[in-house]
Amino acid sequence: MATLNDTATRPQLAHLTEQLDDLRARGTYFHLRVLEDEQAAVCRYDGREVINLASNNYLGLCNHPKLREAAIEATRKYGVGSGAVRTIAGTMRIHIELEEKIAAFKGVEACVVFQSGFTANAGTVSSILGKEDFIFSDELNHASIIDGARLSRAKIKVFRHKDVAHCEELLKEVQNEPGRKLVITDGVFSMDGDVGPVKALCDVCDKYGAIMMVDDAHASGVLGRNGRGSVDHFGCTSRVDVQVGTLSKAIGSLGGYVCGSRDLIDYLYHRARPFLFSTSHPPSVAAACMTAFDLLESEPERIERLWSNTRYFQDQLISAGFDIGGVTTPATETPITPIILGDGRKTMDFSRALFNKGVMATGIAFPTVPEGKARVRCIMTSEHTLETIDRAIEIMTTTAKEIGLL
Ligand SMILES: Cc1ncc(COP(=O)(O)O)c(C=O)c1O
Repeated sequence: MATLNDTATRPQLAHLTEQLDDLRARGTYFHLRVLEDEQAAVCRYDGREVINLASNNYLGLCNHPKLREAAIEATRKYGVGSGAVRTIAGTMRIHIELEEKIAAFKGVEACVVFQSGFTANAGTVSSILGKEDFIFSDELNHASIIDGARLSRAKIKVFRHKDVAHCEELLKEVQNEPGRKLVITDGVFSMDGDVGPVKALCDVCDKYGAIMMVDDAHASGVLGRNGRGSVDHFGCTSRVDVQVGTLSKAIGSLGGYVCGSRDLIDYLYHRARPFLFSTSHPPSVAAACMTAFDLLESEPERIERLWSNTRYFQDQLISAGFDIGGVTTPATETPITPIILGDGRKTMDFSRALFNKGVMATGIAFPTVPEGKARVRCIMTSEHTLETIDRAIEIMTTTAKEIGLL
């Protein structure tokens, strides 16, 4: 039997060790922090109690008693797994019920649920276009869109962040070429918290006959009526052909979905590779997600709390002298709140120092954000109390002063 020593890195993988050494030298190497209890506003990571400013648990649904109950009940009734991919034998009644619920909530004909938001984006973009087509993508769109675009083999044109005129310029250049055109933006950008120009991009799409797609991962449960997302926020439901959302952030569980016309969804059933080639959710996940959508309707005060906490937190950070992006007004328009530090090493040092003092806020450096734009990213939730926020600000301010950042 092999010992642990026998399985250590062999010379064949020495290049990985070299790259890790390089990360260590730059100060951007990290280890995974381990959560020892529930995902909550105050919880224990790596044996330390911290104020948690790092999760996407916007509405506190990861551990809501009703979601827990729904998941347990579904497990009792239907077991722990679906046993197959959706197209073979793994479509359970509860999967269809969840899709119908989401479609009704979003006011669209149909919905398909994927294993994650990542696979929803990548599986959709890669299957609805081919190599003769064009994709116009915001430069800060999520990695899953970029990967989906590459897999589609379509010609990719990247427009400057939120620059609708640049998007139109690129569309114009190829308007007479054959091939479909797809414009795609995040509804909320995950690193800066700003909102995509959904309405203006819809206008451009209408003008050039392009397909319009929005990734609402960070807008689901956060923006729009009862958390219906950025597309609803801009009143553009009938003008966006492909709406992606996630079940893994504000909805509290796991998964992604695509909303649109019945034909779009039927097509994805037949052609989206993660749907065809990867097993569907356990029934507990589908049941928890259904309960979450009920809560968006019945407990809107969670979303109100999320927004009032966000305003309070961001005002306090600005008063303390932190740069949260933007020149005269903050760039962020949502609970995602970057503290821009620029330098990768400084950012990681600040994040580590904060953790040691009891605040968990993720340091994010190149390549996740452009070189020179490293930041500590904070995310507010509905579950942070004002006292917790005050305490977090106090720790952040004293720590930043101690290491010369303020
Ligand atoms: C903008 C955006 N889209 C998609 C995803 C992927 O969602 P999921 O975590 O459900 O795979 C994320 C999550 O990191 C995201 O930030």
